Amino acid sequence: MNEKDMQAKIYVAGHRGMVGAAIVRQLLDLGHPPERIVTRSHSDLDLTNQPAVHAFFAAEKPDQVYLAAAKVGGIHANNTYPAEFIYDNLMIQANIIHAAFQNGVKKLLFLGSSCIYPRLAPQPMREDALLTGTLDATNEPDAIAKSAGIKLCESYNRQYGQSHGVDYRSVMPTNLYGPGDNYHPENAHVIPALVRRFHEAKMSKVPSVAIWGTGTPRREFLYVDDMAAASVHVMDLPKAVYDQHTLPMLSHINVGSGSDITIKELSEAIGQAVGYEGNIVFDSTKPDGTPRKLMDSSRINALGWQPKVDLQQGLAKAYADFLNNHAIRT
Ligand SMILES: NC(=O)c1ccc[n+]([C@@H]2O[C@H](COP(=O)([O-])OP(=O)(O)OC[C@H]3O[C@@H](n4cnc5c(N)ncnc54)[C@H](OP(=O)(O)O)[C@@H]3O)[C@@H](O)[C@H]2O)c1
Repeated sequence: MNEKDMQAKIYVAGHRGMVGAAIVRQLLDLGHPPERIVTRSHSDLDLTNQPAVHAFFAAEKPDQVYLAAAKVGGIHANNTYPAEFIYDNLMIQANIIHAAFQNGVKKLLFLGSSCIYPRLAPQPMREDALLTGTLDATNEPDAIAKSAGIKLCESYNRQYGQSHGVDYRSVMPTNLYGPGDNYHPENAHVIPALVRRFHEAKMSKVPSVAIWGTGTPRREFLYVDDMAAASVHVMDLPKAVYDQHTLPMLSHINVGSGSDITIKELSEAIGQAVGYEGNIVFDSTKPDGTPRKLMDSSRINALGWQPKVDLQQGLAKAYADFLNNHAIRT
């Protein structure tokens, strides 16, 4: 990275979230000066508020933007608040991307999600599976918003790339976990939900924990600091290299660990990380969901990024964070 990039003024939207916080950690680790990293909490700047977002960009004039702010949640949250998922996420993206353009931001990275891919996409899911089939009903509103985010970036590049030097990129993370995760009993994703359940079972010496489904579905997980490293890697790629590996209307890049495990294997690994010694039982009367969800990460691998933290190391760090910040001590 050249000296100019190290002096760039960088806005990280969503810096209090799991991914945004990891991106700030990554930028600081790489030596970016803290005073060149701009952040605003949700209470200081509601990103769905268009005039407020435009005023913020006009005042701060960042050089680069990481768009990691969004309404986020698991199946329960997506089913309960579909209007908030589609409205908030469309507004946040449209406001930030347009305000960035109007205020001369050349480099922006939009973070989407693997939920953009059709329910029956061939596995592992490649970038070109986007918009090829019916989405999973449970997170369709969020998937539509995130697909629109990719198309916003591409459309601004196509219309303003030549004339204004706009270079807006997108990355699609697989399931993430790690420090700063959401451990809410109802709204959490699978890893933080199981960390909490196993921890509580350990503390109250419950002999067994029941998990929904047969345990056979396969899922992919990536430690959040690896995702942050991938985000900065993609942001900093020379334009010619990025262009060589993407297409103007198929520009997003999957970011995954490259391998999947069964829910049974995941449960056992979390039980081990937490130190839960009871039994894990599977309630096969409950639905399993999609049999397999794995991203094809060959595009980002070819661009020179690989994950560094394996599941065992990652779960140990996640549990340490849970104990420090979320567990009710007895
Ligand atoms: N976590 C995963 O497993 C995962 C997997 C794939 C993709 N992703 C994607 O990665 C991105 C970041 O996810 P995350 O896990 O870091 O989520 P997160 O922990 O919930 O963080 C999102 C952040 O955005 C902020 N935010 C939400 N609405 C806002 C608004 N209207 N104005 C200002 N700030 C707002 C939140 O602030 P408040 O909390 O104060 O509202 C929070 O700090 C999302 O696009 C997500 O879909 C996440």
